[in-house]
Amino acid sequence: MNSARACTAAGCSHILLFIPRRKVSGHGMLKTFHIRTYGCQMNERDSEALGCLLEEHGYTLAPGEETADILIFNTCSVRDQAERKVFGKVGLTKRLRRQRPEVIIGVIGCMAQEHGAALLERFAHLDFVVGTDQLHTVPGIVAEIARERSRRVATETGADDTEALSGHRPGAVSAFVSVMRGCNQFCSYCVVPQVRGRERSRLPEDVVREVRQLAGQGTKEIFLLGQNITAYGIAEARRDGTYSPDASPFADLLRAVNDVPGVERIRFTSPHPKFMNQAFLDAVCELPKVCKAFHIPLQSGADRILELMHRGTTAKEYLARIRHLRERLPEVGFSTDIIVGFPTETDVEFAATRQAMNEAGFDMAYIFKYSPRPGTKAAEKLPDDVPQSVKEERNQILLADLVARAESANTRYQGRTVRVLVEGESKRNSTRWTGRSDTNKVCIFPRTDGMQPGDLVDVVITRTTANSLFGCVAEEA
Ligand code: 5AD
Ligand code: SF4
Repeated sequence: MNSARACTAAGCSHILLFIPRRKVSGHGMLKTFHIRTYGCQMNERDSEALGCLLEEHGYTLAPGEETADILIFNTCSVRDQAERKVFGKVGLTKRLRRQRPEVIIGVIGCMAQEHGAALLERFAHLDFVVGTDQLHTVPGIVAEIARERSRRVATETGADDTEALSGHRPGAVSAFVSVMRGCNQFCSYCVVPQVRGRERSRLPEDVVREVRQLAGQGTKEIFLLGQNITAYGIAEARRDGTYSPDASPFADLLRAVNDVPGVERIRFTSPHPKFMNQAFLDAVCELPKVCKAFHIPLQSGADRILELMHRGTTAKEYLARIRHLRERLPEVGFSTDIIVGFPTETDVEFAATRQAMNEAGFDMAYIFKYSPRPGTKAAEKLPDDVPQSVKEERNQILLADLVARAESANTRYQGRTVRVLVEGESKRNSTRWTGRSDTNKVCIFPRTDGMQPGDLVDVVITRTTANSLFGCVAEEA
């Protein structure tokens, strides 16, 4: 019989649903874990921090999922396809459980929040389901499952403990730093506000402390993360009565991170065009460490669709921001997110998206086919009436445009010298190294003696493709 009781994990006071499972032996020996991550950079960051927390509790990272004692799926609900992939993968672990009955298997993150206990019903071999606000309780939950052979669900909201999840894998050239959680925008297609809750921003001093620690360990690039990062600090300012539409707490945070010694580069994702006010634009243009490559979701170039999406900006306003940045910055790159086949999108509206993408001159874009998500306004109120074949066709057209545009835009780098932050060996060829330009172009060049990841080097570009720039280190050119 199911029962509910208080969690005994350190610092946690919420109630957990407790579902007994059949007894197996061997749980006391659990030592290694593996986290498989799906979805966005926020999930990658959560997995890294949870991994550190598990290590603090004495577990070690397993080389692969087949040998892990604890197998965790950190999941994404943004599109149906992402969910189906996880359902398939979790289903396959039934065999692993049969071979090694002592293994503990859990689902965490957005799908855990969205589906809760229904996941335990769907998968009889699943041990725990932990939602987006409860990740800090995973070590306690795993220990309890090992002791009691129970099944657990923890999906209460409002109890997240971001500061307990601030660990980083040491030695990385580039590190993600989460500055806020949740989203208040409620774009009509998006499940994020539902599964990640309302916006909660960390205190600037906590973010800066984490950045200082990373810089002290040799990290050169800080990648700030928030689902709606340009709204950083705004919910709190409204609550305190200090909100001003002309201020930008995120711009203030960028200035503080820019001041941290040892940090060479700052990137962030994702800004919302609605919050890109003058204070924000001034900060990104003025601050030398802020990379001049901006990922700004457009979603559609047609105003009727943008309104149905509840985006709060027109295509014209969006393009005005891009123009402003291009005018102020000699070298800048833009990328975006686009949804094709949003309900009722006509050929003419799709053409407007194509036109807007061309006008913005995006280097790169993530193009998504609209996928209705249960519980969202669009799924409830609008018909998913654009046929799959039309979504696919529109997707292919935009991808072809992108490749053509990137190929020709990258040729402007030929013969130029770009400053590259060295990341490490190229995956395709170990005699070459890979890194990125300030404008986020992948640069590949022969390795030279004494060079190491984290170095900033000048590379003379000799050849370009749609995806990469190739060259050699300046002194050798
Ligand atoms: N269908 C398709 N794409 C979506 N996105 C979010 N929700 C959906 C959906 N229901 C895309 C948006 C967002 C990105 C992270 O995922 O483009 O910016
Ligand atoms: Fe989703 Fe819109 Fe929030 Fe982005 S801003 S996370 S698309 S609701």
